[in-house]
Amino acid sequence: MKSIVVGNWKMNPATMREAKTLFEATRKAAERAKNVNLIVAPPAIFLRELKQRYKGSRISFALQNAHFEMGGAYTGEISLAQGDDSGASHVIIGHAERRGMGETDNDIRKKVAAALALKMTPILCVGEKERTQNAEHFKLVREQLQAGFADVPVSQVGRVIVTYEPLWTIGKEKTMSPRDMHEMAIFIRKTVVDLRGEGGMKVKILYGGSVDGTNAGAMLTQGDVCGFLVGRASSNALQLSALLQAIENAS
Ligand code: 13P
Repeated sequence: MKSIVVGNWKMNPATMREAKTLFEATRKAAERAKNVNLIVAPPAIFLRELKQRYKGSRISFALQNAHFEMGGAYTGEISLAQGDDSGASHVIIGHAERRGMGETDNDIRKKVAAALALKMTPILCVGEKERTQNAEHFKLVREQLQAGFADVPVSQVGRVIVTYEPLWTIGKEKTMSPRDMHEMAIFIRKTVVDLRGEGGMKVKILYGGSVDGTNAGAMLTQGDVCGFLVGRASSNALQLSALLQAIENAS
């Protein structure tokens, strides 16, 4: 099976011109990576134009966030319907940085269900802010999964992509160990099955947090994940090539 790489550009770059340059490098790297399905999540304001210029089939597009309502008086927000119309097939929901800005489990519950209703693929992010000694992170991740899947029809549970991306691994030098990720992947699968039935076995699990070409191979082969949510290494052409190459080598 192909690996999934979601490139989260976050609030970068500053201009459309730079976005086109980065996308062109991304496109070339994606052409070489036969075993990767690449999903690019640019700032929403760049999405439509990048999508329109792209003629290939290897890259899909994602929103980094969206509102759960389809329209209305929500100044500054973007709806899933608008993202869908711009060419996004996926949407990142509940990213740690958005949770940090006040997004609640209740918002996330509505967003996941709204995305599925529009036939978009939700990339549901879960993970703790920090690790404590008494394994509280399992309880927290369970609560986040419970909320995220609460309104998902049982028949659609397998369509959700779950990303474990704890805040303490984002923007760091080192990532977490593949062994710890393996443990978490088993926990996530078991929890979704417990909560929502056998469809939980089909849920794809990604890891996010300081992924790059030096650690992706081990995480892919030992971490029980089928891909990655990537920040910095997705908005740097050389680092992206190295990352995709590492995945090719491990596949
Ligand atoms: P980094 O890969 O830069 O650590 O960011 C991870 C992330 O937040 C991706 O969504």
